[in-house]
Amino acid sequence: MKKDLIKKTIEISDNAFCPATKFCVGAVLETADNKIYTGVNIETPSVIFALCAERNAFCTALADGQREFKRIYIYGHKENEPAYRMIPPCGFCLQVMNELCKEDFEIVLIKSETEYEVHTLNEFLPMKFASKK
Ligand code: THU
Repeated sequence: MKKDLIKKTIEISDNAFCPATKFCVGAVLETADNKIYTGVNIETPSVIFALCAERNAFCTALADGQREFKRIYIYGHKENEPAYRMIPPCGFCLQVMNELCKEDFEIVLIKSETEYEVHTLNEFLPMKFASKK
């Protein structure tokens, strides 16, 4: 868990493209070999399409050939306001993490540079669906 990545997550959340909800999310994904990939949420104005910051970061990492993931940092806030709480990943993102990561994959929920919590994927999804053994 790195302080500079917490700062980066907060900073990149302002790149979110969220005209529909005005709710900005930034995610920084760390791979097993310590590379980082960033993602923000992307919406169309009518919310016909919305992609969460977390899945955006996974897509970028996968497109770069990455397959092993260690940790993700997440920060969400209303546009032009600081976060009022920590934002957990949505169910869709948790399932993607479940299918791409191990149980001890870490999820860092950030409220500010000094207020954050580190959880594991297993804490969020103790009973999980997997099609393989
Ligand atoms: N969102 C994320 O990017 N990550 C989350 O963990 C929760 C929600 C996005 C989706 C949508 O663009 C906006 O936040 C409001 O739900």
